Amino acid sequence: VETTNGTENGSNVSASVLTKNKAFPGRGERANYVNIPHAIVMVGLPARGKTYMAKKLTRYLNWIGVKTKVFNLGEYRRKATHMYKNHNFFRSDNNAAMRLRERCCTDALQDVCNWIENSNGEVAVFDATNTTMERRRLIHSILVEKMQYKLFYVESICDDPSIVEANIKEVKINSPDYADMSEQDALEDFLQRIHHYETQYHPLDEAQEDHLSFMKIYNTGEKVIVHKHEGHIQARIVYYLMNIHITPRTIYLTRHGESLHNVDGRIGGDSELSEKGKEYSRQLSQYISSQNIPKLRVWTSWLKRTIQTAEGIEAPQERWKALNEIDAGLCEEMSYSEIKEKHPDDFAARDLNKFSFRYRRGESYEDLVARLEPVIMELERQGNVLLIAHQAVMRCLLAYFLDEPSDKLPYIEVPLHTVMKLTPAAYGCDVQYIPLKVGCVNTHRPKPQIPGSLEDDKESNHFPINFNVNENEIKS
Ligand code: ATP
Ligand code: F6P
Repeated sequence: VETTNGTENGSNVSASVLTKNKAFPGRGERANYVNIPHAIVMVGLPARGKTYMAKKLTRYLNWIGVKTKVFNLGEYRRKATHMYKNHNFFRSDNNAAMRLRERCCTDALQDVCNWIENSNGEVAVFDATNTTMERRRLIHSILVEKMQYKLFYVESICDDPSIVEANIKEVKINSPDYADMSEQDALEDFLQRIHHYETQYHPLDEAQEDHLSFMKIYNTGEKVIVHKHEGHIQARIVYYLMNIHITPRTIYLTRHGESLHNVDGRIGGDSELSEKGKEYSRQLSQYISSQNIPKLRVWTSWLKRTIQTAEGIEAPQERWKALNEIDAGLCEEMSYSEIKEKHPDDFAARDLNKFSFRYRRGESYEDLVARLEPVIMELERQGNVLLIAHQAVMRCLLAYFLDEPSDKLPYIEVPLHTVMKLTPAAYGCDVQYIPLKVGCVNTHRPKPQIPGSLEDDKESNHFPINFNVNENEIKS
C-alpha cells in the first residue's frame, strides 16, 4: 500500500494532504470522534448508473441531515482538457491521457479532503470508475491511512447489454463529450470506451481486498452483496441503495381539498372538507381516472380531510399516520394571529429558524423529515402512487424529490387544489404542477421581513380569500 501513495508517484494531493495533516488529529484522536467523516467511493464500468446512484444517495443523505457532496471525476477531466475526440482517449496505452487522468483523480481527492476538513463535510461521494486495484490502493492510502476517514465502496455490475445501451442513450449521448457527434456515432464511441475499461477492470475482490467495506449491486438491484459494512451511516446507505429502482413510474402528490379550518385560517386539527374541498375531491378522482394509471395505489394520512379527498378514487388505499400534518402542539387549531398574540416569542422564533423550531408539545419540520423517512423509503420501492397529505408534509416530500435545502424547505409553495406530478428524469425528477380549477384559500405564509410580524401576510393574502387558480399547467 505504501508504494502507491501519492508522494511517490508525484501526485499533488499527498503533499498538500500531508501538510494539512500536521494540523489534524492523529489516528488515535480521530478514532475517538463519534462522527468520523465518510468517503463513499463508486466502482464500475461506464454507464453502470454510478452517477445516478451517487447523486440520488447524496440527495437522500442531505435530506436526512447528513452533509454530503458528490465529486465527479468526469467533470475534473472535462475542466482539465477539451481534447476528448474519441474513445482512444481512454486506451490504457495512451500515456499522456493516463497521466492527465491520474492528476484529475488526485485533484478530486484533494478536494474531497479539503471539503471535509474545511466545510464540515460529513460524507463525500467520489464518483469515478475506480475499476483497478491500483486506483483503490491510492484511494485507501489517502482517505484512510492519511485522513482516517471511513471508506465504503459501492460497485455497480451490469452485464445486461440492453440496460447499458439504454443508459448510454438516456444520458451519455447528451454529454459535452459528444456535443459534435451524431447519436449513432456517440453510442458506438461510448461502447468502445467501455471496452478500454474492460481490459483493465478488476471488480472488488473479496479475497484480495478482504479488508475493505463494500457493497456490490448487480443488474440494478437484482442481487446485492454487502461485505464488512460498519456503523450507522453505511447501514443506511446499504438499505437505501437496496430499495431504489429504475423502473419508470409516476408519483402524484396533492394536499387534501380545502378544509373548514383552512377557510377559518386555523392550523392543524382534524376538520372536514369545505364545499370547495369536496368539489376538489370530485375533480381529483375524475383527473386520476382520466390518466389511466396502471396499478395505482393511494396513500393518505389518518386525518379526515385527506381520507375525504381520496373518497371517490378507484384504487387500493392505504392510511399512513406518518403522513399526518405537523403537530403544532399548544398552537393546534389557532390562527397565526392568535399564536402571535398568545405566544409572541414562539411566533417570532419560528420565523427566525422555521426548519428547527419545535412547537411546544409539538413538532418541528426537522422532526417531520425524520417521521417521513420510512414513507420516502417505501415510495422508492413502489410503482405508481398518489399521495394525499398536508402542507408541511408536502414541503418535506418535495424537498427530497427536488433537492431543496433545509432552510428553503419550510417555505416551498404547495398550493391547495393542485396535483404535482413527479416523473423520474435522467439524474433527477421533473415536476409538473396541475391546478384543477377549483377556487380555494391560500394558506401559504411567506417568510416575513420582520420575524413575528403579520404585515407581509396581508399582502400575500394569507388570510382566507378566494382566488382563481391559473388555468394553465405550470411546469418547472
Ligand atoms: P460513467 O462512468 O460514464 O460516468 P455511470 O456509471 O456514472 O457512467 P450513469 O451516468 O449514472 O452511469 O448512468 C445513468 C443511467 O444508469 C440512468 O439511465 C439510470 O437509469 C441507470 N442506472 C441507475 N442505477 C443503475 C444500476 N444499478 N445499474 C445499471 N444502470 C443503472
Ligand atoms: O394551514 C394549513 C396547515 O396544513 C396547518 O395545519 C399547518 O400547521 C401549516 O399548514 C403548516 O404550514 P406552516 O409551517 O407554514 O405554518
